[in-house]
Amino acid sequence: MVKRAVVAGCGGYLPEKVLTNQDLARMVDTSDEWIVQRTGILERRIAAEGEFTSHLAAAASRAALGRAGMEPSDLDLIVLATATPDETFPATATRVQNELGMTRGAAFDVQAVCSGFIYALNVADNFIRLGQAESALVIGAETFSRILDWTDRATCVLFGDGAGAVVLRAEEGTGTAEDRGVLSNHLHSDGRHHDLLFVDGGPSSTRTVGHLRMAGRDVFRHAVVNLASVMREALATAGVDPEDVDWVVPHQANLRIINSTSGKLGMPAEKVIVTVDRHANTSAASIPLALADAAGDGRIKPGDLCLLEAMGGGFAWGASLVRW
Ligand code: UT7
Repeated sequence: MVKRAVVAGCGGYLPEKVLTNQDLARMVDTSDEWIVQRTGILERRIAAEGEFTSHLAAAASRAALGRAGMEPSDLDLIVLATATPDETFPATATRVQNELGMTRGAAFDVQAVCSGFIYALNVADNFIRLGQAESALVIGAETFSRILDWTDRATCVLFGDGAGAVVLRAEEGTGTAEDRGVLSNHLHSDGRHHDLLFVDGGPSSTRTVGHLRMAGRDVFRHAVVNLASVMREALATAGVDPEDVDWVVPHQANLRIINSTSGKLGMPAEKVIVTVDRHANTSAASIPLALADAAGDGRIKPGDLCLLEAMGGGFAWGASLVRW
């Protein structure tokens, strides 16, 4: 028998304000046509003044706990993935812990930018496998609108704000791919590619917050190769074929990346969860938001095999295989 981290509930939160491509065309030299053709994005959400990453995270967490039928006091652990923390320190996870009224356990942040949710899921899964936690809240939450250069049309049209959360609970499993829960996680990074996607600020380097900078075409090229490779790695480890996968839940950076990667593995489009059209790229929040969307409307059902994948700044990339 092995311990498995089983998904007990999932929830998402999006800020109220919608920013459309038409809105952006009034701000920078771009068009709805260019954005839709190159990315598949129609609109994104933007956090209100005074609405922080921790607020989005707490709202998504309450939704996830509600679906799990659990109270914050039932949690042993919060792992929050974000590249846009409320403050340099303390961890935004402790802000969320306080907002939820949870006074026990441990809460900390994980930083792997767009792959953050996969990294955080891996950390929480390990806590549960080792018996160090019986339950965990894994959150991806971002306010990328705060680190965008709103005069740079090549990046400001791509991102949005939001949060998603998943509650994990320990259950006994058999150790086979038939178990419910997180079956495996696969993490990679390669720091040589720093300059292709980074924020040109930080407390130690510039004492400023900085802005996101990206060589989009280069990131695109690497993303397609790395994502297909890590997805194959996850399937091979579990000994399952692409046709055994019920849902691919990709990081939502660009519809062309999503289609091209799932196409490389022969995954039909009907099995791929897409939210990039409505959410744009919400970095660490994109996968749990997509999970909340598809589990919320009944597409993802208990027992379904889900392949999660992401790639972003670092570069850092990864995949997780989860039986819902
Ligand atoms: O989540 C983190 C990981 N990030 C990603 O995965 C993003 C990966 N990259 C991409 O998604 C795509 O590379 C972009 C959507 C960022 C760009 O698409 P692209 O097809 O690679 O376009 P490009 O960068 O090669 O630019 C093509 C043209 C350029 O004009 P010229 O040089 O051909 O005259 C750009 O200046 O499009 C121009 N352009 C724009 N035009 C209108 C760039 N941004 C815009 C814009 N509106 N917003």
